[in-house]
Amino acid sequence: MATIQNVRGTKDILPNEIYKWQKLEEIARNVSEKYGYKELRTPIFEKTEVFSRGVGEGTDIVNKEMYTFADRGNESLTLRPEQTAALVRSVIQNNLLAENPVQRLYYLGSYFRYERPQKGRLREFHQYGIECLNSAFPESDVEVICLAISFINQLEIKDFKLNLNSIGNEQSRANYKKILIDFLNSHKNNLSEESKNRLEINPLRVLDSKNPADIEIVKNAPNILDSLDDESLNHFNIVKNLLDILQINYTVNPTLVRGLDYYSHTVFEFQSTHLGAQDAFGGGGRYNSLFTELGGKETPSVGFAMGIERLLLILEKIGNTPQENNTEIMIIFSDEKHIDFAMKVSDIVRNKLGKSCLMDLNRRSMKSQLREANKLGVRLALIIGDEEVAKESITVKYMQENKDQCFMRIEELEGVF
Ligand code: HAM
Repeated sequence: MATIQNVRGTKDILPNEIYKWQKLEEIARNVSEKYGYKELRTPIFEKTEVFSRGVGEGTDIVNKEMYTFADRGNESLTLRPEQTAALVRSVIQNNLLAENPVQRLYYLGSYFRYERPQKGRLREFHQYGIECLNSAFPESDVEVICLAISFINQLEIKDFKLNLNSIGNEQSRANYKKILIDFLNSHKNNLSEESKNRLEINPLRVLDSKNPADIEIVKNAPNILDSLDDESLNHFNIVKNLLDILQINYTVNPTLVRGLDYYSHTVFEFQSTHLGAQDAFGGGGRYNSLFTELGGKETPSVGFAMGIERLLLILEKIGNTPQENNTEIMIIFSDEKHIDFAMKVSDIVRNKLGKSCLMDLNRRSMKSQLREANKLGVRLALIIGDEEVAKESITVKYMQENKDQCFMRIEELEGVF
């Protein structure tokens, strides 16, 4: 019968690479908890409205990229393309803000977008992210950025860029949109088809275009920072000032607008030259009206998410992949008749002594078992033959250091570690 392949744009994470994921996840959890963030897990799919209202009807994610389907009860459901909107849905539903004036939450999970797969761009991908809910003050923007930097530092990623911008409050943005639309209309004939289209639905996104002709036009576009009102400017200035105090390097990039509709004020993105075309490995910003879009009360919030596949690509490029933990011990038995004793010793090693241990399950020769022990890089081989069984003992062979062997009773084994 024909074999079946995985879906395009998805990947199996195989046992020989899983330890990299686990290490990265461990660092993410440690950093989050150091800053007082607690994990929240939501379902993989949600009612479609969570994202169409949350992320925004005018975005590429909602228009072109969602995995939306009708379930057997004819309800429109969507595989989550991102976490923020679903998290906010859950916080409102579970009334989590009643417990804490500020909620600090983090997540690790898989997300789904129907994008054209390429290096660093998948249809199922993974994110680590955090959300700091219910503070309108710029110090929360800076706490979130600091946490991201702390995480990047722990991974020992050095050459990256933090791009920062403010898209202001709603009023500032509305003013800017008017000026931008006038400017873009005066260059409409030279814009790419995609940007012409964006001009109608979501003009700010034209600033994000990767098309060379658009880039030339955008170079002369009015600067969003010139349209910020006092409140927006003040917020942005405090964010920059706090980042300066904390000696966090950033580049103000007035064309950074991000692809999701919920942002206001601060937006930011982490960029690496190790990634090629998909060079953003993380991004986030402030979102002050997402809660009201989803039926909750006004809750100004800020957060970020990083792409785990992209982080792993960077770590590979800079040669900083974590080491795999080897199995410590292999039980080697000379004959099938010693299997019961070998299983007893394995049980003691794992459950009384707390060490990882393997035993051959194919009844292979001692030579093959020793070859396997070498291949696995175990520290100790516990050898079992006639004499060992007769005397309730084992021969301990040091596989790494001096290759010495010693014969001992099982009870003495603890002293070897
Ligand atoms: P985003 O910029 O859409 O933001 O995604 C964050 C990160 O997820 C990206 O920088 C990238 O590393 C990774 N990513 C996105 N799409 C893909 C893909 N198709 N394949 C591989 N990696 C991908 C958000 O999702 C917001 N929810 C971030 C946020 C949190 N804003 C506020 N709070």
